[in-house]
Amino acid sequence: MTAENLNLNNVVVEKLEKGVVIVRVSRPEALNALNTQALREMTEVLQQISRDESIRVLVLTGEGNKAFIAGADIAEMKDMTPAEAVQFSQLGHGVTKLLESMPKVTIAAVNGYALGGGMEMAVACDFIIAGEQAVFGQPEVGLGIIPGFGATIRLAKFVGLPVAKELIFSGRRIRSAEAKAIGLVNAVYPAAELTTRVLELARTISAQSIVAIGNAKRLLNEFSESTGSMAKIDAEAQAFGGLFGKKDQKEGMAAFLEKRTPAFV
Ligand code: COA
Repeated sequence: MTAENLNLNNVVVEKLEKGVVIVRVSRPEALNALNTQALREMTEVLQQISRDESIRVLVLTGEGNKAFIAGADIAEMKDMTPAEAVQFSQLGHGVTKLLESMPKVTIAAVNGYALGGGMEMAVACDFIIAGEQAVFGQPEVGLGIIPGFGATIRLAKFVGLPVAKELIFSGRRIRSAEAKAIGLVNAVYPAAELTTRVLELARTISAQSIVAIGNAKRLLNEFSESTGSMAKIDAEAQAFGGLFGKKDQKEGMAAFLEKRTPAFV
């Protein structure tokens, strides 16, 4: 089954009973930040799960108790050319599209930092359940770039345009309680209860008709795409890549890695 024939170093797949699978991003040394290799592994895992008729509900989470996913890997992105950055964004878009469109229910169990690309992975899931310790944010403009895994398209659908703008323009981090208040998160539980509560919900969902759920998911997604905004996903990849030709991106990412405040143009 899933992942048994894949060579995975950054993603752990755990198949539970009753059609529930946990996909855990595991790069604890970088707070589960997504590099190219991790994104490739996620693509393969999600493609396989998507085809696996025995799986009904996918729970996406991060290794450890500090981070869900602390974003795309800044050390890897720092020296990317614009063309490489476009490809990196497209790779991330592939993963988010799989989470969004597969005929299974995808739940983000956010157990810590969900920043940048991490928040975008969560938002691409059908819904988000968070631990009380979770922290959300889109800090990209503090690195001289914009979100590149879909937030310029999806975030406003969750929280409305003004809130999406405020979060993306300020890079402000928010805790679970505020994330719930703005409609980003469905439910918040104490950290120690998060896995149990998410799995209870996953089992409730997996006991329903998966063919019915698949149809409902398709229709709900089509409704939310009726603004035509998903057509803009490639525009986001191009704009994301374009910023890798500017001084602010090199300065912003160098400053993060050198643990100092960036001096933008
Ligand atoms: N990419 C690459 N490495 C990352 C990372 C990322 N997105 N996020 C964290 N790391 C690494 C750090 O560089 C550090 O590595 P080091 O031990 O070799 O110095 C390690 O993970 C631990 O992170 P650290 O910053 O020391 O932990 P902290 O508790 O002080 O802060 C965060 C935690 C999440 C607030 C902080 O790591 C952070 O802001 N990360 C970047 C978030 C971000 O901007 N994401 C969007 C990217 S587009």
